[in-house]
Amino acid sequence: MTARQGTLPLALDDPAKRIAELRAQIAEHDYRYYVLDSPIISDAEYDALVAELRALEEAHPELITPDSPTQRVGGAVAEGFAKVQHPRPILSLANAFSADEVRAWRERIGNYVEKNLPDVDPHNLDRYVVEPKIDGLTVVLTYEHGRFVQGATRGDGVFGEDITANLRTVKQVPLRLRAEAFGNTFPARLTVRGEAYMPIADFERMNEALRAAGERTFANPRNAAAGSLRQLDPRVTARRPLKLFCYAIVEYVPAQGAPSAPQTQWETLALLRAAGFPVTGHARRFESLEEVIAYCEASVALRDTLPYEVDGMVIKLDDLMLAERLGYVGKDPRGALAFKFPAREATTILKDVVVRVGRTGNIVPNAVLEPVQLGGITITSATLHNYDDIARKDIRIGDRVIVKRAGDVIPYVAGPVVAARTGNERPIVPPTHCPFCNTPLIKREGEVALYCTNPECPGRVDRAIEHFVGRAAMDIAGLGEKIVAQLVDAGLVNDVADLYYLKKEDLLGLEKFAEKKAQNVLNAIAASKHQPLWRLIVGLGIRHVGEVAARALADRFGSLDALIEAATHHPEQLQEIEGVGPVIAESVREWAARPSTRALVEKLKRAGVNPTQQPRDAAPAAGPLKGKTFVITGTLSRPREEIAAWIVAHGGKVTDSVSKNTSFLVVGEAPGNNKLSKAQQLNIPIIDEAALRAMVEG
Ligand code: IVH
Repeated sequence: MTARQGTLPLALDDPAKRIAELRAQIAEHDYRYYVLDSPIISDAEYDALVAELRALEEAHPELITPDSPTQRVGGAVAEGFAKVQHPRPILSLANAFSADEVRAWRERIGNYVEKNLPDVDPHNLDRYVVEPKIDGLTVVLTYEHGRFVQGATRGDGVFGEDITANLRTVKQVPLRLRAEAFGNTFPARLTVRGEAYMPIADFERMNEALRAAGERTFANPRNAAAGSLRQLDPRVTARRPLKLFCYAIVEYVPAQGAPSAPQTQWETLALLRAAGFPVTGHARRFESLEEVIAYCEASVALRDTLPYEVDGMVIKLDDLMLAERLGYVGKDPRGALAFKFPAREATTILKDVVVRVGRTGNIVPNAVLEPVQLGGITITSATLHNYDDIARKDIRIGDRVIVKRAGDVIPYVAGPVVAARTGNERPIVPPTHCPFCNTPLIKREGEVALYCTNPECPGRVDRAIEHFVGRAAMDIAGLGEKIVAQLVDAGLVNDVADLYYLKKEDLLGLEKFAEKKAQNVLNAIAASKHQPLWRLIVGLGIRHVGEVAARALADRFGSLDALIEAATHHPEQLQEIEGVGPVIAESVREWAARPSTRALVEKLKRAGVNPTQQPRDAAPAAGPLKGKTFVITGTLSRPREEIAAWIVAHGGKVTDSVSKNTSFLVVGEAPGNNKLSKAQQLNIPIIDEAALRAMVEG
């Protein structure tokens, strides 16, 4: 490339030549910057080239062409989008959610080849290319003799919308291709498929700006990309931080005597890159399906390191001719498959908002959610950050909300689905007094959080966690006050259950945490899962419940579920327990009734913290099962201890062996022969789990 030094600034001798030179240079720098990611000039130098080109074009408007880099800014507002027909249908992809589904796909296409394509060597199936599946908007770009002439959305796969003017504003869309890639003869026509997307950080910045301007925000980067590209005013698109990855050739019409289309996916990616398109650096080629699967599974971690959203990996047969011959089922080609990652975003109903007090007295609103599956776990609560954020996003109780959870991040409510409103939603009113100690809340200059200024406030999260890990409760050695403070301040731990979701990477990010210390802390936390139930009950910090009461409650009910169940439905049972007086009973009842209690207990259980013990019959209890003695055999829907605890919570008794005092034998899957025959001998009624439930629920 010619250096800029030494050329006449305004090239008065031959403006057309200088314009061509500038366009070539700018295209080269765009390629280095947007595709290779290795610019060789500064932004200022680049801007100078563009400024010179712009000045020349202003002086010679007859020399302006639509593929000039100055034309990216976007022209007039369109009336609506014209329809354009794709040269070939733009197909979709079938999904797989597990390794086994990938293997089943391979088997299906193996069978298909055997039956329908007898001339094909089945070994050719076992050459694959695996690429990230970018979560954006499909775009279809057409070039004639190397010049960008048309850009379209996928539309219905046959007809798309003409968004050429908008795509022209996207810097990564090459306006002219690189001739070297084609042996210096451009194909007469080349249509390429890609995915336009918005990087996550840019998306968040943009949403912030839209919000500040009082405009509508986007739910996620994909919607933002789609919304930005489907703008009728290309000047709006031009301001949106859109990017592109290309991954397929839809149509290739070679010029006479020029090389024809690549035969494999791997060569396609190489050609696209050489031609100036941005192409992923995470594509890999494999010769066995198990390697493909291993790469797909390993890529779940890759996902968290990428600055854009990837919702899976795409597995493609490398042999494009073979893929073509395999045809498609509906809209899904047989020769490719999407390996989907667990979702990171879901929508659910915001049932209520409960308040937590942070370590420094900051008030944190927490969402109580209709349970929803997200990334393989059930979410029942999520943070709402602060009340300013709630107001800004206009989140209301009863709203359908978007819940997000990226990697190890604690789930949070990203915003409401406004279109789903019924009119019955209620605004969320910030508290004026601390719900734990009734201290009036204050707002500090320049901060968004509300504060409870009472240093002794019983609601403080760090206190709750210090108590939980303390020697009188779960006794987690090595988790002192300092570390608790670090964890709470970093937002890694907002309640005691979060301790059990900590990952080593979380801890390594904290000051003074090296490998060994992190591992020790994790080991100590993991070991505490086996602490007896009474220690967990003490740890939960129910008012007035110390070791004596906790031991009595543990002995009587045998599990947290049974305790909550009894406290909710038969609170009178609590007072019948030796060591539990009316004050404690009322406190337990109030604790059990809080929605946050159930959410916390569920969260602990999901982490594997659910100690149970055989409940002891302390006093003749009240409840529909009062006076009845049960023996359980076989596998029921839940662990036997849980069922036993439930029986006890409803006033019944559970023993280990069948005798004449047994009222019912409860039988599950694969029951023991001894208990069954003994019950038959003694004429004891044999019931199943449903009948047991019916005794309580009527
Ligand atoms: S290949 C026949 N490769 O995912 C070829 N698609 O759910 C089918 N996508 O509509 C597409 N990244 O928009 C392919 N590397 C990639 C992709 C990719 C994202 C999108 C594409 C498609 C959707 C299918």
